[in-house]
Amino acid sequence: MASASMAASPGDWAAARPRTEVAYVEAPIRAFAIATMFWGIVGFLVGVVIASQLAWPALNLGLEWTSFGRLRPVHTSAVIFAFGGNALLGTSLYIVQRTCRARMWGGEEMGWWLFWGYQFFIVTAALGYVLGVTQGKEYAEPEWFSDLWLTVLWVMYLLAFAGTIMRREEPHIYVANWFFLAFIITVALLHIGNNVSLPLAITSTFSYAAPAGVQGAMIQWWYGHNAVGFFLTAGFLGMMYYFIPKQAQRPVYSYRLSIVHFWSIIFLYIWAGPHHLHYTALPDWAQTLGMVFSVMLWMPSWGGMINGIMTLSGAWDKLRTDAGLRFSVTAVAFYGMSTFEGPVMSIKAVNSLSHYTDWTIGHVHSGALGWNGFITFGALYWLIPVLWKRARMWSEALIAWHFWLATLGIVLYITAMWVSGIMQGLMWRAYDELGFLQYSFIETVAAMHPYYVIRAMGGLLYLSGALLMAWNVFKTITAGESVEEARVAAPAAQPVPAE
Ligand code: HEM
Ligand code: HEM
Repeated sequence: MASASMAASPGDWAAARPRTEVAYVEAPIRAFAIATMFWGIVGFLVGVVIASQLAWPALNLGLEWTSFGRLRPVHTSAVIFAFGGNALLGTSLYIVQRTCRARMWGGEEMGWWLFWGYQFFIVTAALGYVLGVTQGKEYAEPEWFSDLWLTVLWVMYLLAFAGTIMRREEPHIYVANWFFLAFIITVALLHIGNNVSLPLAITSTFSYAAPAGVQGAMIQWWYGHNAVGFFLTAGFLGMMYYFIPKQAQRPVYSYRLSIVHFWSIIFLYIWAGPHHLHYTALPDWAQTLGMVFSVMLWMPSWGGMINGIMTLSGAWDKLRTDAGLRFSVTAVAFYGMSTFEGPVMSIKAVNSLSHYTDWTIGHVHSGALGWNGFITFGALYWLIPVLWKRARMWSEALIAWHFWLATLGIVLYITAMWVSGIMQGLMWRAYDELGFLQYSFIETVAAMHPYYVIRAMGGLLYLSGALLMAWNVFKTITAGESVEEARVAAPAAQPVPAE
């Protein structure tokens, strides 16, 4: 660990050693970046569609393929696994090469296998949902044949990532890689553990899950919560630990804290799943255990948040000029917010109000839109010019527009869901003086309508921001000033993004 405290920023080791040219694998990473944008827009669009269906049910169109029930998993999988997954695969493979100063294990060929194999998984899974082929387990909807394909692909991903670490030229393994490795290994365990099932027949697209009843529920939420902990959190923290120091041009605030952050998150998350099963048939002690570990998670999560934000010490002025950095830092603030709200919601007394209500949906989206979305946008705004050898993004103004549209969208989305969710919970538990329920269920549904309209508007703003980003990325690639042109134009200035 002595060496850990010395390398405070990605590239410190590189600075200390003579530079040797490494032929990094980049073309598949460029493809991952484009796919992240593409699937992001698809996922946000389907989000807006299902949000509108909840506000105006006629938009279900009376067809089974376009019904809310079928499109909802298309949305959740598109945003988590297609948008988030492509972002994670692309950035992790970029970061591991740069911080290890080593070419990716398996080379370009491996990169393309991973890229196309992953897109194939996404398409088979999404088509399945629309056609009604699903295991019916949230976030683990794909049927056995897609699951098997993903398992093979994930092993290849592990080989590519770990193989690159093994052949590193740097003595030190930068902390971002620790987070990515934990994400890759744990997701493999979760995916295999939660998908043990028996196909009806080898020719059938359907299967039975091996564990049943309360054990099945426990395993499902061990999986579900750790999908949050390791897919939506650990992997994205890997991005945070690389891109914020790069954007701020400052070392990580405390490398020691990042190591404490890592081990405490890894140890605590895995126990917290039962908070999804409060007041169910799950034994009471297991529910309490989940609650206690969830509350404990607050501390390391905030340690990580402080580490990310304080990395800007001495560079706060960059927030005025670098709109990409603004995304990354706001992302960390949302990370802090959702990891405060989560532990509160895991307390059984609070959960008895929040569970089944839109409060949960608000919590999900402050994490998803604010943390996962924004950290990805920040990373892409840094990465796109580097990957295409451009001096900078085509338009800073468009990034600023993106930022404000998306921020306003999130504020509308989550405040609407807080009000709607808490109102919904309170209406369900209100009794009149004779002990009868005060409201019928349909009255609670009607009361939520205005908030559903506001949420759909918020989603539309978020989507509009992403469309501006796509245009900006397109123009950067096709018409942006290249690094060479910038050097010729202003040899003294160095607006060129450092690799
Ligand atoms: C334009 C942006 C978005 C809109 C309008 C939107 C809208 C929605 C809607 C309407 C639902 C269903 C809520 C319900 O069943 O009551 C939902 C669920 C969900 N969305 Fe989004 N969403 C957006 C972006 C995202 C992003 C970027 C992510 C993740 C990275 C995400 C993750 C989820 C998850 C995990 C659920 C399921 C929540 C649960 O079951 O508790 N969404 N979204
Ligand atoms: C310390 C961290 C966190 C804790 C302790 C926590 C806790 C919780 C709790 C108690 C629920 C409600 C469970 C229920 O009533 O069914 C929940 C739901 C959820 N949280 Fe968090 N949360 C945390 C951070 C996050 C973050 C950063 C995200 C990222 C996007 C996130 C995504 C979700 C999702 C997707 C659900 C909905 C699951 C479902 O029912 O479909 N959480 N969380």
